[in-house]
Amino acid sequence: MKYALIGCGRVAYNHLKAAKENGFEIVAVCDIEPDHIFDLYTRAALTPEEAGAIARYEDWNRLFDCEKPTLVSIALPSGLHAACAKDAVRRGIHVIVEKPIALSLQDADELIALARETGAKVCACHQNRFNLAVQEMRAYLEKGCFGVLSNAAVTVRWSRGRDYYSADDWRGTWAQDGGALMNQSIHGIDLLRWMCGGKLATVYGVTRRQYHPYIEAEDVGAAVLQFENGVIATLEGGVNVCGPDLEEHLTLIGSGGTMKLGGLNASTVEYKYFAQEGEAAKNALHEIAPNLYGNGHVSLFKDMAEAIEEDRDPYVTAQDGRDALETVLAVYLSSKTGRPVSLPLKDVSTLDIAGLFD
Ligand SMILES: NC(=O)c1ccc[n+]([C@@H]2O[C@H](COP(=O)([O-])OP(=O)(O)OC[C@H]3O[C@@H](n4cnc5c(N)ncnc54)[C@H](O)[C@@H]3O)[C@@H](O)[C@H]2O)c1
Repeated sequence: MKYALIGCGRVAYNHLKAAKENGFEIVAVCDIEPDHIFDLYTRAALTPEEAGAIARYEDWNRLFDCEKPTLVSIALPSGLHAACAKDAVRRGIHVIVEKPIALSLQDADELIALARETGAKVCACHQNRFNLAVQEMRAYLEKGCFGVLSNAAVTVRWSRGRDYYSADDWRGTWAQDGGALMNQSIHGIDLLRWMCGGKLATVYGVTRRQYHPYIEAEDVGAAVLQFENGVIATLEGGVNVCGPDLEEHLTLIGSGGTMKLGGLNASTVEYKYFAQEGEAAKNALHEIAPNLYGNGHVSLFKDMAEAIEEDRDPYVTAQDGRDALETVLAVYLSSKTGRPVSLPLKDVSTLDIAGLFD
């Protein structure tokens, strides 16, 4: 599998590691900052021979045309995801694109349509779906053990200070990022939507910028979500915890079972009780992860390679990425208008929210 990485910043290490562990042929990387490439190689402990065998580019289109990779993964600032993914897909190159898949629904829809036309596969990088705890919850759900779902909740309580935002000028901007819901909470939002049945009816949300006046977007948000199937859910996501990151929880309550995932990124089974099984189990599973991004990239890359080989959809599709994006945009729109928002949404973008906290 000829593979290339576009964007060599913070999360890129997880991509390179996933590519290596899956035995991909890493043909090229792309970044406008040569230092970032060298830092990445150091973090990944590449030997000079390994690093020397990888071509370096500053322009992703040149990379696509010269190297002709089968698969690329995109770890650029969020506002560049859609443009780069579309450039790849137009050439029939398969793509793993970091979350959020885009910052506008129009871009997400264009990407999905292009992929349909060219046959290129697009995977949205919501790697937490592969957390062992999440897989366990999903298995109970698919076996019907939850019975009829009643309600669910996700909480993302993390901590980001001024140093985090000032390190890169795209962070916290409406044009390139969004805030705590679009960046940090979107994995939890993806899990919530996936577990609760996918189709949302209405969203009522409130967002605020409480402690970070130097960013444009929200640093905390909360919402009530109603699904078409009658499930109600709550969402709370923010980066205002005093001290280190606190938790990411996902709770699912059904007539046949209750399950609560926790830890820093929904990587622990904190509680489960299923009527069929009888006894409540506490702390049944605790996955050790090297960082907040978890272990999921390796599994997600493996699945994408198999999807290409088997000519099937990846486990996490572009439509899944669009669903998560739509959910965040619905919270944003509701917060802006002060009213509940009905879904589905079309043609909404983070830029429509610009100025909300000015
Ligand atoms: N899946 C996850 O758990 C996870 C975790 C962290 C970040 N992310 C996502 O990954 C993306 C990258 O985040 P990050 O924290 O690594 O950001 P970063 O700023 O550390 O890295 C982005 C890299 O892209 C490079 N770049 C910028 N413009 C470019 C261009 N035009 N052409 C080529 N390279 C360019 C930058 O120089 C930088 O090295 C974001 O969208 C973020 O939301 C996902």
